[in-house]
Amino acid sequence: MEVEANGQEGSLVLLKQGAEARVFESTFLGRSCIIKERFSKKYRHPTLDSKLTVKRLNAEARCMTKARKLGVPTPVLFSVDPMMQTLTFEFVEGPMVKDILLGMGANGIVEERLNDIATQIGDSIAKLHDGGLVHGDLTTSNMLVRKDTNQLVLIDFGLSFISTLPEDRAVDLYVLERAFISMHSSCGDVMERVLAAYGKSSKQWCSTLNKLAQVRQRGRKRTMVG
Ligand SMILES: Nc1ncnc2c1ncn2[C@@H]1O[C@H](COP(=O)(O)OP(=O)(O)O)[C@@H](O)[C@H]1O
Ligand SMILES: [Mg+2]
Repeated sequence: MEVEANGQEGSLVLLKQGAEARVFESTFLGRSCIIKERFSKKYRHPTLDSKLTVKRLNAEARCMTKARKLGVPTPVLFSVDPMMQTLTFEFVEGPMVKDILLGMGANGIVEERLNDIATQIGDSIAKLHDGGLVHGDLTTSNMLVRKDTNQLVLIDFGLSFISTLPEDRAVDLYVLERAFISMHSSCGDVMERVLAAYGKSSKQWCSTLNKLAQVRQRGRKRTMVG
């Protein structure tokens, strides 16, 4: 895609260049939007590659839509374009949880706000998991907080999948736990608050949290036995 100077209708401003996707800010029918463009890994066969990219694009759109149906706030999906290999979403106005927590780490914890965010994180993950959806990339960069309502919004369903295995749910939580430990330890034990909310919300909390204890002992990889 051509990147133009910012400002005008239809222009693209690059927000993030990742290994498998570029994320732009733009406008869609006069509304602020995010365009996520998946691109090919050059070492694969070009036709095969583009088929895989479109599959993953559709999978991301489907998982995000499923999350919404389960009552988990996500950005509104405006369009899926298989030719351009792009997804277009509503632009969510508000900071990433990552930046809110880094701010609290540096300037002091705001108890009420931290509790509210942790509770919303736990509730949202419980809804996903009870609906059979595993996010696959739970980090504080993939969570936004709407500026006007303080509503937590989950984004980035690019690694999401359908599963009813306690193991998959436990690994989902474990990835988030590691993110809190490595990035936000100055905010105290945020995961404990997240898990308290998760435990209250999820009908399957018992099997999931038992598995989580096992996953913590061995790390996220499955043991290669049997
Ligand atoms: N709907 C959105 N509204 C506002 N910002 C967004 C939105 N979607 C993504 N972003 C921003 O772009 C970043 C990258 O998007 P993401 O979907 O997580 O792509 P990646 O797979 O590259 O991590 C996010 O961390 C967030 O800062
Ligand atoms: Mg992301």
